[in-house]
Amino acid sequence: MSALADLYTVPPEHVELRDTIRQIARERIAPRAAEIDREASYPHDLRALLGEQDILGLPFEPEYGGTGTGTLMLNIAVEEIAKADASTALILMIQDLGTLPIRLHGSEELRRRFLPRCATGELSPAFALSEAEAGSDAGGLQTTATRDGDEWVINGSKAWITNSGIADFYCVFAVTDRSAGHAHGITAFEVEADRPGFSVGKLEHKLGIRASPTGSPVFDNVRVPQANVIGEVGQGFKVAMSTLDRSRLGVAAQALGIAQGATDYAVAYARERRAFGQPINSFQGIQFKLADMETKCAAGRELLYQACCRADREDPELGKYSAMAKLFCSDTAMEVTVEAVQVLGGYGYVNDYPVERMMRDAKITQIYEGTNEIQRLVVARSLR
Ligand code: CAA
Repeated sequence: MSALADLYTVPPEHVELRDTIRQIARERIAPRAAEIDREASYPHDLRALLGEQDILGLPFEPEYGGTGTGTLMLNIAVEEIAKADASTALILMIQDLGTLPIRLHGSEELRRRFLPRCATGELSPAFALSEAEAGSDAGGLQTTATRDGDEWVINGSKAWITNSGIADFYCVFAVTDRSAGHAHGITAFEVEADRPGFSVGKLEHKLGIRASPTGSPVFDNVRVPQANVIGEVGQGFKVAMSTLDRSRLGVAAQALGIAQGATDYAVAYARERRAFGQPINSFQGIQFKLADMETKCAAGRELLYQACCRADREDPELGKYSAMAKLFCSDTAMEVTVEAVQVLGGYGYVNDYPVERMMRDAKITQIYEGTNEIQRLVVARSLR
């Protein structure tokens, strides 16, 4: 591909919408961030706000009630929200992740049944792939689905599932033919949370993104109709992998938002805070930290935007680029937030200031939707 074809542009309407979302995040979301983190409470009010403002419509095409504005605009929005609060950004990210399997592989009937109500925020999904013994090794699932006439019977439990207890339906990956191996023996199902045999299970107490519940849903002889199968029977592993190729862009955008939010806060603090008779941003030791933080954010944004545009034009190298963007932006988020805490000194370490929360929130971006070791593996495989 020529260098010219790799270029992207950000349309002016995206910039306008970004500015509106930035204002909403600053005025309505940021003031709630410390409280929902401290209380580990899911912000139903902020989800309603994102619904009212059509922000939850960003992942969806117009025929399913969405904005049809594409992957780049979606992730610009994720970044803006994550600057204010990473847990609230995850509400939008999960609207994308949890519905991608249907959007990419589902029947028209499944799309019509679920997508329009997700676009308004009435329904919220979950993506239930990982298990206690199958995280990075996503093919090692123990959950099973057995055919019984026109129905499937699902048994097992999942782990580390975002939106546990909040989601109205779960995209569940289960072994349907163990002899076929993971590439051809796993199937994806839509499971509504009100089906008999479903229970929310254990919820985790976490270091970060505390306002977003994470848990281990249980499926005990849960029956779903054949119509709830997503894509073809036996193709579930590919449904999961192709979903993650796109959803990892959301993690990259969330990480970038955390990093930029921490950088902006540290810059403003260093302008005001005085030591040895002058603002601390007059010291080169601080200036160089801030310069490195800003540079890493800018570099991450270029890679993310490039990857988003590849998603929008169905580029065959999308998987490699989304892995690189997730890897780079999440490592940046961790490095930058640690430095932001350092710039604030003792104030950085206490929860009267937001940067310690940002540092705690950053850590998960190196882990979920594929650890950064898995992202390196995906990139390295593309180089063979
Ligand atoms: N798109 C489509 N198909 C793909 C694919 C992709 N990106 N990657 C692989 N496949 C296909 C392969 O072509 C192969 O099919 P064939 O045999 O027909 O050719 C099949 O899938 C198996 O491929 P591999 O043998 O290469 O798979 P693997 O077992 O070596 O695993 C892996 C590859 C990259 C390590 C994968 O297991 C992986 O991505 N692991 C990480 C999982 C992950 O990200 N989990 C996060 C869960 S989401 C989450 O965090 C929860 C939340 O709520 C936030």
